[in-house]
Amino acid sequence: MTVETPHYQFAERVQQVPQSFIREILKVTSKPNIVSFAGGLPNPSLFPVQELENCAAKVFQKRGAQVLQYSETEGYYPLREYIAARYHQKFGLNISVDQILITSGSQQALDLLGKVFLDAGDKVLLERPTYLGALQSLSLFQAQFEEVTLHNDGVDPDEFEEKMFNCNPKLFYCIPNFQNPTGLHYSEEKRRMVAEISSRYPAMIIEDDPYGDISFSDKKALPIYAHLPEKTILLGSFSKTVAPGLRVGWMVAHRDIIRKATIMKQASDLHSNNLSQHILFEFLSTYDLDQQVFKIVKQYKYQRDVMLSCIEEYFPENVQYNRPEGGMFTWLSLPSTTHARDFLAKAIEQNVIFVPGDSFYASSPDPQTLRLNFSNVSDTAMREALRKLGTILEYTNW
Ligand SMILES: Cc1ncc(COP(=O)(O)O)c(C=O)c1O
Repeated sequence: MTVETPHYQFAERVQQVPQSFIREILKVTSKPNIVSFAGGLPNPSLFPVQELENCAAKVFQKRGAQVLQYSETEGYYPLREYIAARYHQKFGLNISVDQILITSGSQQALDLLGKVFLDAGDKVLLERPTYLGALQSLSLFQAQFEEVTLHNDGVDPDEFEEKMFNCNPKLFYCIPNFQNPTGLHYSEEKRRMVAEISSRYPAMIIEDDPYGDISFSDKKALPIYAHLPEKTILLGSFSKTVAPGLRVGWMVAHRDIIRKATIMKQASDLHSNNLSQHILFEFLSTYDLDQQVFKIVKQYKYQRDVMLSCIEEYFPENVQYNRPEGGMFTWLSLPSTTHARDFLAKAIEQNVIFVPGDSFYASSPDPQTLRLNFSNVSDTAMREALRKLGTILEYTNW
């Protein structure tokens, strides 16, 4: 008997969402001895496991069944107060609790903002390249993407203004701190420039900031939000500073936007995980988040240094790379004859994987680029794997 393949009538929007190439390579390379620079995973050895276990026990002792009950869509009030207080302490920003919505990671904030702002065909301006998860999330709303060139210190000012003027985007999505995928960081001047230009156009800025705390220097750059609060939506997350499995992020915006996003969130998932929020708040009240961040920064900075010194030692001179001052990634450009996907095929034979950069472009991808993650590979594995990658680059006739 032949079984007919069923024909499902999927929505058009589903066809348009780019697949995560990262998930695809992680699937084909589940060998145990693989060294992966591909994922965007924080280092699990730095998760405060014991502390969170203690906090979970305390939360159940103190609150019992209440933490297992449905709760408010906006999120746990004391946690929102904590977030507001931290912005004040770090940047002197005055953000009120009703300007904060807790989300299931900052990823959900992107989805909610798509729902709040985007109709099919609306334009969204993105950095070139940008975070793949934003491309996925926003493409669900059948938006049209426009890109602006990203330099070492932020977006190109003339091109930014030209795109704002000619394309009239509804949203500009950016990651000014230690960007995923490039590791680049906006200068103070570029932040002010983005705010100044944006103040003259209708577009809202989505400032996605999961990596701001993971800074290898003492410099604290003010968020774009500080320069243009009415037109900026600032996203944050505990994924990189505490643990991503908690799925706790947030959105800071004008109350009117928060109200609309809250209704969208009700429709999506009622509220973020109540238990996670309580455990996290207990953690933040008992321990010092800055101490936890300090440990992460120290470790990632060391891993960044190992990665860069290996690239310098093993890779041919015509390979260009960034020196990220924070975050979890560096970005490479190969010589014009070398495509990152061909390089990946050879790397997989040597049990090493990374992500070719073409996944991170909304259009006309640059095939010579690639992203390397340094947060989740031990120094010994890193040295060995980068030596192998260097040998491939040095001796292959592309
Ligand atoms: C730029 C950027 N935004 C958002 C996210 C999503 O983070 P989460 O949903 O865990 O807060 C990530 C995750 O890697 C990211 O790199």
